[in-house]
Amino acid sequence: MSRRTVVGAVILGLLAWAVPGTALGEEPADDVGLAPTPPMGWNSWNKFHCDIDEELIRETADAMVSSGMRDAGYEYVNIDDCWMAPTRDQNGRLRPDPERFPNGIKALADYVHDRGLKLGIYSSAGTATCQGLPASLGYEEIDARTFAEWEVDYLKYDNCNNQGIPAKERYAAMGKALAATGRPIVYSICEWGSDDPWLWGNEVGGDLWRTTGDISDTWGSVMTLLDQQVGLEPYSGPHGWNDPDMLEVGNGGMTDTEYRAHMSLWALLNAPLLAGNDLRSMSATTLEILTDPDVIAVNQDWGGQQGSKRRDDGDSEVWAKPMSDGGVAVVLPNRASKAATIAARPAELGLPKARHYAVHDLWADTVEGTTGVIRATVPSHGAAMFVVRPHEGADLPPAVTVELDAPTYVERGAPVAVRARITNDGRPAIDEIEVDLTAPDGWTVSPSNPQRIPAVPGGTSKTLTWELAPDGGGAPGPVEVRSEATWAYDGDGFDETASTRYVVADPLPAGEHFVSDLTWADASNGWGPVERDRSNGEMEAGDGNPITIAGTRYEKGLGVHAPSVVTFYPAERCTRFASLVGVDDEEGGEGSVTFEIWGDGERLAASAVKRGGEAATPLEAELAGVDVLELRVTDAGDGIDFDHGDWAEATVVCG
Ligand code: GLA
Repeated sequence: MSRRTVVGAVILGLLAWAVPGTALGEEPADDVGLAPTPPMGWNSWNKFHCDIDEELIRETADAMVSSGMRDAGYEYVNIDDCWMAPTRDQNGRLRPDPERFPNGIKALADYVHDRGLKLGIYSSAGTATCQGLPASLGYEEIDARTFAEWEVDYLKYDNCNNQGIPAKERYAAMGKALAATGRPIVYSICEWGSDDPWLWGNEVGGDLWRTTGDISDTWGSVMTLLDQQVGLEPYSGPHGWNDPDMLEVGNGGMTDTEYRAHMSLWALLNAPLLAGNDLRSMSATTLEILTDPDVIAVNQDWGGQQGSKRRDDGDSEVWAKPMSDGGVAVVLPNRASKAATIAARPAELGLPKARHYAVHDLWADTVEGTTGVIRATVPSHGAAMFVVRPHEGADLPPAVTVELDAPTYVERGAPVAVRARITNDGRPAIDEIEVDLTAPDGWTVSPSNPQRIPAVPGGTSKTLTWELAPDGGGAPGPVEVRSEATWAYDGDGFDETASTRYVVADPLPAGEHFVSDLTWADASNGWGPVERDRSNGEMEAGDGNPITIAGTRYEKGLGVHAPSVVTFYPAERCTRFASLVGVDDEEGGEGSVTFEIWGDGERLAASAVKRGGEAATPLEAELAGVDVLELRVTDAGDGIDFDHGDWAEATVVCG
C-alpha cells in the first residue's frame, strides 16, 4: 500500500500513490508514512459530545499516562467537534472557543506533547461542522496552516454541510493543504463511507477513512458496523486503514462481555483503536479490555490482510486474520441470545497442516493444545479470541470445551432436558471430570449433581444429562442455567464455566389475534423497546406515534427499529401469520429495512427492501408445524439510521 508523503508535496497527483487493491502483503519499502500501524488514542466525541474544554483534554492526557494506556500503545488525544468559536478571527482563521479553551490549542498541544502523546483536532469538509460551527470547505490552506502552527498531529475531517461537492475533490483539497504545511499530520477521512472512500482515500493523502455512519453504544450498532466491513479487506493496510468508527468500550451501554467482543473484532479488523470513554474514571475491567497486550498486538501486526469473515452460520461466525509470524488470529463472535459453541478448522483459518496447534486464548491468557479443531463456548453477545500457531509435540494441556445445551423455548409446566457435552480436542486424555449444574430457585435438578466421568480421551466427547423440573418456578420468561466443570491433566486441576438459557413460554391462544394483543416470548430492538399499536418512537416505552405508513394510519401493529427480532411461541398450533409492512412516516421518508418471517430458524418469507415513504405491502407465511415464530427486521445492509419498521395489522391464526 502507499503512504502520504509530507515533504515537497507540491502537486499531490504526481506522487506515488497506491492503486486501490494493490497486492496484499507488500510491506512499504520506505516507511515514511504516518500510520504504519492502525492509529491508537482517544477521541472526545462518543462520551462527551460538545461538552468539552481544555481541562478535560489535559486530564485525559494525564489519565492516558497514569492508567498505563500510553505504555500500552495509545498515543493520540483527539478533540472532536465543538472546540471552535462560532466565528473565525479577523484574519479568517479558526480560533478555539475562548471560554472552553482560553489558553488556546497550541498550549494544549505543548501539554500533550510534554507527556509523550500527540494532539488531534477536528474539522469538516463542509461550510460548517456537524454541530454548525465554522468548518474548512474553501479554507483548507489557512486551516491546515493553523493546525500545523498549533503543532497538531492528527486531523479528523468530517463530511457535514458539504454542499454536494464531490467527496474526493473536497478531501483532496485538505490532503494537499496538509501536505503543503510540511508537518506530519495524520489525516483521518470521516466521510462515513458514503462515496466509497476506500477507493480514493489513499490517493488524497488519507491515513484512515471511515467506512460507516456513526457508532452508538449498543450491541446492535457494533454488529451493524461489523457487517459493513465485509468485502473492504483489500483496501486496508499500512498507511491507509479502514475505520469502522471509534470504540465505545466503557461507556455503559453494553456489558463487559459485549465490550470485549467489540474490542476483539476491532483489533482483528485492523481498526484504529480510539477509545471513546472517560479515561479519568474508568473501571478496572474497562482498562483491562482496552489495554490487553495480546489483543493490541493482533491489531498492530501487519500480516498482509485485515481480518475477514471466514464463515457465517447465522448467529455464530468465524473471523480470522493472518499474523506476520505465521500464526492466525481468530475471533468467534456469538450474536445469539444464549451461549453457543463455535468451532473452526485450521484450513478455513488459513493455517498450514500440522499435527498439533497451540491455541492462545487472549482474554483468558491460557495456551492449550489441539490436533485440529479450534472450539469455544462463547457467551451470548460475546466473542472468543485466539492466536493459533502450529506447534511441535503434544506437551500442552489439551483444549477442552464444555457446551451446555437446552431447548430454546419450553412450554410452561413442562420439564426441561439439559445436556453438558465435554469435548477434548487435544491428544492426551483428561480425567476426573466433574460437572456441577446450577438452576435458579424453583427448578429441581435431577438425577444427580455433581456428575462424574472418569476420563475423556483426546479427540472424543462425553455427555451428561439432567432433567430440570419446574417446582414452584416455571413462570414465563428466560431461565439461566450454569455449569462448572473441573478436570485433571498431568496432575494439574482445570475448570471452566458454561451457561445456557431457555425461555418458558405459553403457547399462543387459539383463534385469530392481532399479535400486538399477545404476549411475545422474547424481543430485541435496535432503538428503545418494541411498541404495541404505536410506531417505535424513541428510547422510552410508549413514546411512539400512531402507526402510519405513506400517509395511511393503522390502529393495530408492532412498531420496531432495525435490527429487531420479536419472537412468539406457536408451539405447532398455529396456521398463518399475515401483516402489512412498511417504514413508518415518523422519520420523514428516511430509512430502509427488510421484513422477514422466520419459523424454527428458517426464513419463511421476506419483503423487498422497504423505504421511507413507500406504501405498506402484505407479507405472510404458513405456520403449520412451526414451534417458534420470529418477526425480524433488518437494516437492509446500509446501517440502522431512521429504520423504524411497522408490522401493521399483524395477525396470527392458531388452532
Ligand atoms: C459526525 C461524525 C462523528 C462526530 C460528529 C461530531 O457525526 O461522524 O464521528 O465527529 O459528527 O459532530
